Amino acid sequence: MRLAIAAGLVLAALSAASTSRAAEAEKPKSVSWAHDGVFGTFDRKQLQRGLKVFMGSCATCHSLRQVYYRNLVEIGLTPSEAKAVAATKEIDEIGDDGQPKKRKAELKDRFVSPFPNALAAAAANSNKAPPDLSLIVKARAGGADHCYSILTGYSEPPKDWKDEEGRPRKLEGAQQYNKYFPGEIIVMPPPLTSEGQIDYGKDAPKATVDQMARDVCAFLSWAADPTMEERKRTGIKVVLFLLLFTAVFFVIYRRVWKNVH
Ligand code: HEC
Repeated sequence: MRLAIAAGLVLAALSAASTSRAAEAEKPKSVSWAHDGVFGTFDRKQLQRGLKVFMGSCATCHSLRQVYYRNLVEIGLTPSEAKAVAATKEIDEIGDDGQPKKRKAELKDRFVSPFPNALAAAAANSNKAPPDLSLIVKARAGGADHCYSILTGYSEPPKDWKDEEGRPRKLEGAQQYNKYFPGEIIVMPPPLTSEGQIDYGKDAPKATVDQMARDVCAFLSWAADPTMEERKRTGIKVVLFLLLFTAVFFVIYRRVWKNVH
């Protein structure tokens, strides 16, 4: 009886915890990713399309400080293709004459940030600095699903939209309704809005909003965890080794104890 009461209390506490979280933000949509699971690997073509989306639609607001242009060879670009991506951006420097000058970004550089600092970034975006996206997939519960859900989750607010105290809510200024964002209000304008917004070129799936959102979030998953595939491969090797090791030791054990009854 006491056990039943305790179990009931635990269940009640758990469900209360989950409903209070639900009030914060909707659970992200569940997407199946090429890199999911123990054997999952990144889809190189998808990462390359994601890079295009990032450069074309996100890099004007978001930095990607933990990624260097040279890292792009890891997603299948040739060094000269990676160089060309870098060369689309400029870097401020102080020249030998002590004067500020600009130069094209190179393979040795990190992804160029769109704003000089967080204050300038916030000033240009309704007082909310766009976060650096290098680790966003790792930093948010739901990971790539969260990223995808935010990008595809814009809509009109519900008809009678109320806060927790029951007061009516409405959007102000640059605010957008997005039920997947904690608090349901995000100031990022929908970055992906029309089919073909990014030119995917030949031999690629249609650049629908859904596809672009998947691709850029896959790219950001790689950015946040570039050594994932290697780690998984090592894990599989270790498990195989341990299985073999167990088998060998079992045979030895049987031999050694053969004459003991
Ligand atoms: C016009 C500027 C702008 C563009 C373009 C833009 N963003 Fe944002 N983004 C923001 C701002 C500002 C925030 C912070 C929003 C807030 O806190 O309300 C943000 C937040 C985010 C978040 C964080 C959500 C969270 O959980 O904190 C993600 C993920 C994101 N953006 C991804 C993208 C991707 C991917 C693209 C390109 C497809 C993109 N953004 C394009 C301005 C932008």
